[in-house]
Amino acid sequence: MSILKELIEDLKADLKQAGYEVETLALEPSNRRDLGEYQLNDAMQLAKAYHENPREIATKIVKVLEEDNRFENINIAGPGFINISLSDSYTKEILNRMNQDLFSNIEKKEKKKIIIDYGGANVAKALHVGHLRSANIGEALKRLARMMGYEVLGDAHLGDYGRPLGFVVLEIQKMYPELPYFDKDYTGDFSELTLPITNEDLEKIYPLASQKAKEDESYLEEGREVTNKIQNHERGYYDLWKKIVEISKEDIKNVYDLLNTEFDLWLGESDAAEYFEELNQIFEEKELLVESEGAKIVHLEEENDKAPMPPLLFVKSNGTLSYETTDLAAILQRKKEYNPDEIWYVVDNRQGLHFEQIFRATRKAKLVDDNVVLEHVGFGTMNGKDGKPFKTRDGGVMSLKGLIALVKEETLKRLSPETVGEEEKDSIAMDVAISALKYADLLPYRETDYVFEVEKFSDLEGKTGPYLLYSTIRMKSLLKKAEGIDAKEIQKLKGEAEKNIALTLLELPTVLNHALESKSLSEITEFIYQLTSYYNKFYAENKVLTEEDKELQESWIVLTSLVYKVNTMLLDILGMKVPEKM
Ligand code: ARG
Repeated sequence: MSILKELIEDLKADLKQAGYEVETLALEPSNRRDLGEYQLNDAMQLAKAYHENPREIATKIVKVLEEDNRFENINIAGPGFINISLSDSYTKEILNRMNQDLFSNIEKKEKKKIIIDYGGANVAKALHVGHLRSANIGEALKRLARMMGYEVLGDAHLGDYGRPLGFVVLEIQKMYPELPYFDKDYTGDFSELTLPITNEDLEKIYPLASQKAKEDESYLEEGREVTNKIQNHERGYYDLWKKIVEISKEDIKNVYDLLNTEFDLWLGESDAAEYFEELNQIFEEKELLVESEGAKIVHLEEENDKAPMPPLLFVKSNGTLSYETTDLAAILQRKKEYNPDEIWYVVDNRQGLHFEQIFRATRKAKLVDDNVVLEHVGFGTMNGKDGKPFKTRDGGVMSLKGLIALVKEETLKRLSPETVGEEEKDSIAMDVAISALKYADLLPYRETDYVFEVEKFSDLEGKTGPYLLYSTIRMKSLLKKAEGIDAKEIQKLKGEAEKNIALTLLELPTVLNHALESKSLSEITEFIYQLTSYYNKFYAENKVLTEEDKELQESWIVLTSLVYKVNTMLLDILGMKVPEKM
């Protein structure tokens, strides 16, 4: 049980001793800490239930509380609100307990297997800013859920299937018709061939080919045919497609590495498509498929729909599978191969209808048991100053690499030349840039849009990633300098700053739980800023290393190490790396 919960249970027992029973305690942190750190508001409710005057009830409760040496500064305000503070001895006890075992203060969840589908990068196409939030939020949720005790698998769900890749292969055929992939008589081993095409080439071919397909009907038709060949595993075409996936995947992995994003599964839409036959059979057997203009669709309307619900396109009239169908097949695959209790899709809010459709179709076909949770964890967009999704200066789509480079340029300017050497400058600036981007991205509530402001995000002051890194590095360096001092526990506290740190730390389990429930990291980002600010205030007010009172000095070192531990744990959840210096 968390310390705060334990405290609440004990307070309930105190109330009971005063003659009153409550089910949930009305304990609120106060914003006037000088009057009392918490406000206990139960007397007002109890007055109704017990038909007594609230002030009299409060008086009786206060009598009991006064006997409890964990509390001090107990007083009644207004009609019966009780102000109450934690005593110094109890505050020390709390801090020491957390320091000994941080995790015992965090309640583990019941066993559950969760698949988080995030990333969603598309093969042969540069990752762009739209992929940033999915990576950041998905990765952080994975780490958080895992820390809370769940079994979690992160799946990249690569966009490696469908027409765009057919066009890419077609365009390569037009550029290099002599390649053995297009030679019917070639009998060699394709996997031994090297392609004269790099990832950069692919990133250029993709938009070029898509454009041609838009403008030229016969190109579109050819592209369709090539797509079918790939999907039917036709020798040569299929092998070239595999090669393209391989080249592109390596680059995609590099970008995700930069973002400290690690997937357990690198499955793609094409892996899911292998389950299509089986999926089709289930839908046929349940008589869910309806013929419509040569295509097969699934009707999804429900009685209480407020907005029209379009049918799901199951198989297109030309026989190819839709994006919806690959997602349904992926659910079947996940059920069969991993049997998860929950699947979370960390995907842009603009795909809300898509997920509503596939969830409805999944339920209708009973692809998973009714109690399996399917959730679209949607998010808002990162916008430019004009309020529209962030673009490059000339209005193009900003690649993720370009965006990272932009922020890195900014953080590079702010590294201290006295501490950071030439040879390490680059990698440190990268760590700082990623943390700037991640923190700014995770700070607003998940579904809220936000505006990209590179100077603000990179600032060493304020609610930013660099501020947190800088402060955490400073804690570490203080601890290093204090290595010779045998500091075991907190024996003494001096001022308000330490008290604020303790009260903030008490909220940690609640914050982690809320973050997991809301699947938004904003409370964690706020919490770590709050804690760090209180610590920095303490740091500015006290000279730990030269403090002459040894008990106080040891206590401060332990306090620093506790805050440092919490910070590193939370920064790690957010996917931010703390460099040695900056
Ligand atoms: N590749 C898709 C896109 O770029 C995102 C995939 C999201 N995940 C999913 N299971 N549909 O839009």
